[in-house]
Amino acid sequence: MNQETVIAETEKYYLPVFSRNQIVLDHGKGCKLYDMDGNEYLDFLAGIAVNALGHAHPVLVNAIAEQAGKLIHCSNLYYTKVQADLAKTLAEVSGFDRSFICNSGAEANEGALKLARKYGHQKAAGKQRIISAMHSFHGRTLATLTVTGQPKYQKGYEPLPTGFDYVEYGDIKALENLMGEDVCGVILEPIQGEGGVHVPSDEYLKQVRALCDKYDALLIFDEIQTGLCRSGKWFAWEYSEAKPDIMTLAKALGGGFPVAAFLTTERLAHVFAAGDHGSTFGGNPLACAAANASLKVMREENLAVKAAETGAYFKTQLEALQKKFPDKIMEVRGRGLLLGMELSKPGKPIVDACLQKGMIINCTAGNVIRLVPPLVITKAEIDALMAVFAEVFPEF
Ligand SMILES: Cc1ncc(COP(=O)(O)O)c(C=O)c1O
Repeated sequence: MNQETVIAETEKYYLPVFSRNQIVLDHGKGCKLYDMDGNEYLDFLAGIAVNALGHAHPVLVNAIAEQAGKLIHCSNLYYTKVQADLAKTLAEVSGFDRSFICNSGAEANEGALKLARKYGHQKAAGKQRIISAMHSFHGRTLATLTVTGQPKYQKGYEPLPTGFDYVEYGDIKALENLMGEDVCGVILEPIQGEGGVHVPSDEYLKQVRALCDKYDALLIFDEIQTGLCRSGKWFAWEYSEAKPDIMTLAKALGGGFPVAAFLTTERLAHVFAAGDHGSTFGGNPLACAAANASLKVMREENLAVKAAETGAYFKTQLEALQKKFPDKIMEVRGRGLLLGMELSKPGKPIVDACLQKGMIINCTAGNVIRLVPPLVITKAEIDALMAVFAEVFPEF
């Protein structure tokens, strides 16, 4: 089968919900991807901030293969060593006490929202309101698209679940005005990813923490995109020291294998009793083995420090590019290897031109080039992208 046939059959048989690039990816190694015809691409997207270790990392590949030959699934009605190992490692790297393992980012956020709602109900009648930020992204299930503060994801799915309010991201006064005793949770990304790579001030996150304390509302940080070394720290909230009550993780957790989690403190762990939440696949041995391997590599290869260093170099290069094209590049933002370059017009032509030249990049929020490569990307690979940018920006 050739690439054209794969594309034609996908377009015929798959639901038409994605706008895909016209290549068929076949395999990868490190930060390189190859299509079916053997063309090579440098990956600055990492499956949207997922493949933190790059492609086909031997530790991850071996862990998955070994676990697959042993036990793939057995249900949460039983204990497994790999699940115990994962919950313990998550506690060690995060400073949280407990975790629940699930399968996707949206599912992790659903669990976090359910925990906040249950907490509210246990505290006081009517304490059930949840506040989220405009331009946020939290997932595609009914509750998570409702907390996602972007009408385009909600349109056509009404009636939406009720009890949700929205606030301008970064505006503490606006949040103060919306807070009340009836709020059980506030959910925020510590850096907005899909919304266009917006980094709030560290002070803002601290003030949000203080408001949640004042009104006894749970602070949920969605670290699905920012977490696990991407921002240059293990978790992006660490820059502000505003530790949330619940943190959600997904994307990089399994290095590409679908696995997610929400983490919380001992104080809140018993808000849920047996039967209050669950998942058939969540925390199965294969997913846990993948997550254990990813976390092991993140620790051993010091990927948070690596992301901070490489990210600083990358950002300096992008800022230099901005100086050359100030009318085309409005701003460079981000932390670690979560970088955004806001353009003066839609970024799709840049994405397409880069793809033609073997560079996989992404555009979010219409005009923000989002750069989220594997955390093992090298300076030489960044230089290769910058050389391509130098060729395509004059034409843009
Ligand atoms: C911050 C954030 N939260 C939640 C999600 C949803 O994750 P998933 O697609 O795994 O459901 C995403 C996905 O892009 C995300 O970036």
